[in-house]
Amino acid sequence: MDPSVRIVRLATLKGVVEQHREHVAIDLYLLRGLSDQADLLFRIHAAELRQTQDFLLDLKSSHFGRHLKTVGVMHGLTKKPNYVPGFPDQMKLDLKTTSEPGQKPYAIVIPIRKTAEWWGLDQEKRAAMMQEHTAATLPYLASVKRKLYHSSGLDDLDFITYFETSKLEDFHSLVLSLQKLEEFRYTRRFGTPTILGTMKSLDEVVELLAQ
Ligand code: HEM
Repeated sequence: MDPSVRIVRLATLKGVVEQHREHVAIDLYLLRGLSDQADLLFRIHAAELRQTQDFLLDLKSSHFGRHLKTVGVMHGLTKKPNYVPGFPDQMKLDLKTTSEPGQKPYAIVIPIRKTAEWWGLDQEKRAAMMQEHTAATLPYLASVKRKLYHSSGLDDLDFITYFETSKLEDFHSLVLSLQKLEEFRYTRRFGTPTILGTMKSLDEVVELLAQ
């Protein structure tokens, strides 16, 4: 496409994002170059899923959106922690450590599905395993920022796990240590896909796509 036409189309991306920003929080990630599946990732938070839908419909029908092909969509809810309230006080305190993902962090998204056996265990057993999970992950909390979304019933997964870090080696060690735990045996889907990208502002994305 002629670069000048491309810039005009990209302006419609900016317009749609700005128009919806009052109702939805939109984060953008560049996957191009790091992924063979997609160029861009949108992370959208809204109080109502309808507002996300309205944004995506407007985006798709914009001049820019007509050139987009949706590769995948995942839905999840944010919720209060299930297990943390029952953890020892020191662990609860340690979990309050502020994460510093660094100035130019990578974002990693890993969808997870647990087995029927996991959901059949009583709360106490699951809580004990989640306490082990937390003990193994706490050393990484300072450099890895995390967010958990619950997806059971809304999507073909149970959780969407989201992380930001500039220390990919730390993240790699973190996942290796989790894979050794008893809790991990109750995982039936981990990734597929694992999404890795760089965080970008809207202006940065527009600039990159204009090139
Ligand atoms: C900084 C590192 C991490 C910390 C501090 C951490 C901590 C925690 C805590 C405290 C919970 C319990 C939340 C609750 O009470 O409901 C939890 C849940 C969970 N974490 Fe992590 N985590 C970390 C990294 C990871 C990683 C790397 C993965 C996998 C890629 C992961 C996957 C999960 C999943 C799937 C749950 C929900 C489990 C369930 O409710 O059955 N976490 N995490």
